[in-house]
Amino acid sequence: NKKYDYLIVGAGLFGSVFAHEMTKRNKKCLVIDKRNHLGGNVYCEEQEGINVHKYGAHIFHTNDKRIWDYVNQFAEFNNYINSPLSLSKGKLYNLPFNMNTFYQLWGTKTPEEARDIINKQIAKYGTKSPKNLEEQALSLAGKDIYETFIKEYTEKQWGKKAKELPAFIIKRLPVRFTFNNNYFNDKYQGIPIGGYNVIINGLLKGIDTKTNIDFFEDREQLELLADTVVYTGKMDEFFDYKYGQLEYRSLRFENELLGIDNFQGNAVVNYNDASYDFTRIIEHKHFEFGTQDKTIITREYPEAWDRSKEAYYPINNDENQKLFKKYKAESQTLKNVILGGRLAEYRYYDMHQIIASSLAKVEEISSNSNE
Ligand code: FDA
Repeated sequence: NKKYDYLIVGAGLFGSVFAHEMTKRNKKCLVIDKRNHLGGNVYCEEQEGINVHKYGAHIFHTNDKRIWDYVNQFAEFNNYINSPLSLSKGKLYNLPFNMNTFYQLWGTKTPEEARDIINKQIAKYGTKSPKNLEEQALSLAGKDIYETFIKEYTEKQWGKKAKELPAFIIKRLPVRFTFNNNYFNDKYQGIPIGGYNVIINGLLKGIDTKTNIDFFEDREQLELLADTVVYTGKMDEFFDYKYGQLEYRSLRFENELLGIDNFQGNAVVNYNDASYDFTRIIEHKHFEFGTQDKTIITREYPEAWDRSKEAYYPINNDENQKLFKKYKAESQTLKNVILGGRLAEYRYYDMHQIIASSLAKVEEISSNSNE
């Protein structure tokens, strides 16, 4: 008999929810992570009393009451509403595209006026079958919105010209004909009071955890510890990249502590123009309505990815999908291994989706073992 039922590789939301739920079902779990902290990408680092979102801004939002109730077991949420701004050609605009944005852009005061401009521009610049991202954006929102908010931002994000990017990157460009700056349409939204670590600590309370342990540095010994391995790292790395490497985009975060209490008056400001190398500045205190004397800001720089960097966004083109499917098929033949989470599934997931997918996995396993 092995010491643990589950060895969970990765202490992000997927692994932490899995460990919590299995522990509730009287299974013994060990959670390891190669980083020096728990929480994966939702981890917050406290500095000057401010919770700094170490791996990028994280705003919790969901339409699913079950998931909202689930996270509220572990933390109280504040009433933060994400309403980012965009600095474009020297002017500030509200996002997402709504009546405030259109007023700032064109001076239009009614939905009819704004709709009219957008429709005329789509008719003039759009095409029936867009072949690249530029044609797609022009066809969905017209020239002004594309040139003011999308072109340069997206080119920085992906490190490629909009004409060289595939159209599918932008599926929809939601425009709203109300004066509503709430970025998300979801019913529930907020930031956990005290930061995301409160949730992670709640999930992992009483569970054995070890940080600074890379699964691949001691794979054989670690596998001896548990009946089943739950792996939430990169899919291709699990197979030692034997069919090739899956590609990602990375980010570099530059933090700065400032001796002033308020730098930009908002948590998120996008920097659209190509003249800035970064795409956004995050001012962390505003996520929690902080009143500290100082403030911490983070400039976010998109970067090319290699294995020495954090893998943030999967590059979902045909080649990568084909490669992923090969790994996926092989993973399904393995016994006593479960792969889950954003890296093992090579997919961009929001937090609420990751929690739902981890809960679904636990339910699937539990119902199979009850049969
Ligand atoms: P996660 O990456 O958190 O955890 C995996 C863990 O496995 C890591 O801690 C890693 O160190 C560990 N690991 C990997 N290989 C290992 C090995 N060999 N040995 C040991 N440990 C290993 N969502 C949302 O709802 N609202 C938002 O605002 C945002 N914002 C956002 C911004 C940015 C920049 C990104 C990239 C993502 C978001 N997200 C988001 C998404 C959110 O971050 C995501 O849904 C979850 O963090 C995913 O949790 P996982 O557990 O799947 O992965």
